[in-house]
Amino acid sequence: MIFDNRLVLSAMAGINDAEFCLKQKAALVVMGGFNADDKAMKAAKRVIGRQRKEFIFDDPIDGIKNEIKRIYNKKKFAVNVRSASIDGYVEVAKIVREYGGIVEINAHCRQPEFVEIGCGQYLLFNQEKLIEIVREVSKICVTAVKIRGGLNIDYSELAKKLRKAGCRIIHVDAMIPNELCDLELITQIAKTGFTIGNNSFVDTKSGEAMIKAGASMASAARAVLKNPRFFDEMLNSKILSEKVILN
Ligand SMILES: Cc1cc2nc3c(=O)[nH]c(=O)nc-3n(C[C@H](O)[C@H](O)[C@H](O)COP(=O)(O)O)c2cc1C
Repeated sequence: MIFDNRLVLSAMAGINDAEFCLKQKAALVVMGGFNADDKAMKAAKRVIGRQRKEFIFDDPIDGIKNEIKRIYNKKKFAVNVRSASIDGYVEVAKIVREYGGIVEINAHCRQPEFVEIGCGQYLLFNQEKLIEIVREVSKICVTAVKIRGGLNIDYSELAKKLRKAGCRIIHVDAMIPNELCDLELITQIAKTGFTIGNNSFVDTKSGEAMIKAGASMASAARAVLKNPRFFDEMLNSKILSEKVILN
């Protein structure tokens, strides 16, 4: 897979639908997070009760498929997925394969409603389940895993296990509580393969720093909400506008 530049739109639940993603100049857009089974959808409804945005579909799989159909021939896309069951990930993977995208398994969200049902960050602390999901999904389509930094886990070991199970892309939110991006964590993970660096990419300097640290691509979420032309501006950077190949 060839990406036209090193820029990625990172997942934003309730915001990154096909329409929003199509406006972005990033070579790869991550749609969602979407909820792939009934349990995850019920959790999302509870999250909305706390005034946070989520995508709500009557039928989770149909809803995701409709979004994919609106984007697949126009842009390279990944679909950020939460599911309480392995079946949810597998069902989305089958659709994503049909339309030539990437499944991004969400091992990142920390909202209690999702963690309680075994999604998001739960998977970082229950890695056997995460590895089983990666094995199943990667039999079907290109697989990415979104992880969060700053936790008391062995990230090198986790990255190696993920790659062995078939994960082609690790997308790391290299957050440090109350600080900026943990570039050392990006370097550590990038040693194991194709990595997307994330957190506090707000200008060319912070984006280029992720690439220099070893990431193949750099992703942004909040900066895009602040400035709809964020990626257009980042394309002025020679480094960030380079093509990149996922082998
Ligand atoms: C409104 C909003 C919704 C988000 N929803 C998701 C999500 O559903 N799945 C996910 O993996 N990350 C989600 N994130 C996290 C972002 O993808 C990203 O990892 C995080 O904001 C740090 O990157 P940034 O500094 O560029 O914003 C969300 C972030 C925001 C601001």
